[in-house]
Amino acid sequence: MKLGRLNHIGVATPSIAQAIVHYRDVLGASDITAPFDLPEQGVKVCFVNTPDGGTQIELIEPLSESSPIHGFLEKNPLGGQHHVCFEVADITQARVWFEAQGKRILGPTRIGAHGTPIFFLHPKDMLGQLTEIMETPKVTHD
Ligand code: CO
Repeated sequence: MKLGRLNHIGVATPSIAQAIVHYRDVLGASDITAPFDLPEQGVKVCFVNTPDGGTQIELIEPLSESSPIHGFLEKNPLGGQHHVCFEVADITQARVWFEAQGKRILGPTRIGAHGTPIFFLHPKDMLGQLTEIMETPKVTHD
């Protein structure tokens, strides 16, 4: 397996609406997607784009108290960095690669916020960093 591009950094927030204002007004972000719900994952997300197709910030707000992000925000009330996401060419091959190294994969491969297959690796097997692996979108990044 070959490591692909750093697609996004996941940032948890108690309020996507307030986080959007922060990225726009404090950091000068001019290209932020509209928020949308991912009910299967219990979250609402939106993407802050950086220029020239650079790495995105994925803002993540819990949809309910059963969301995995809810527990994170209890420990980190302001929000903060939650995961990093790397692209790979072939998600099935990547899964086999990590499993062969005894890395714990959290749940099944599923469709992520970019509409391509993803899975997460346990932070304790990844130097403390919750790591998302996503298949590179075939056409464009958005
Ligand atoms: Co993500």
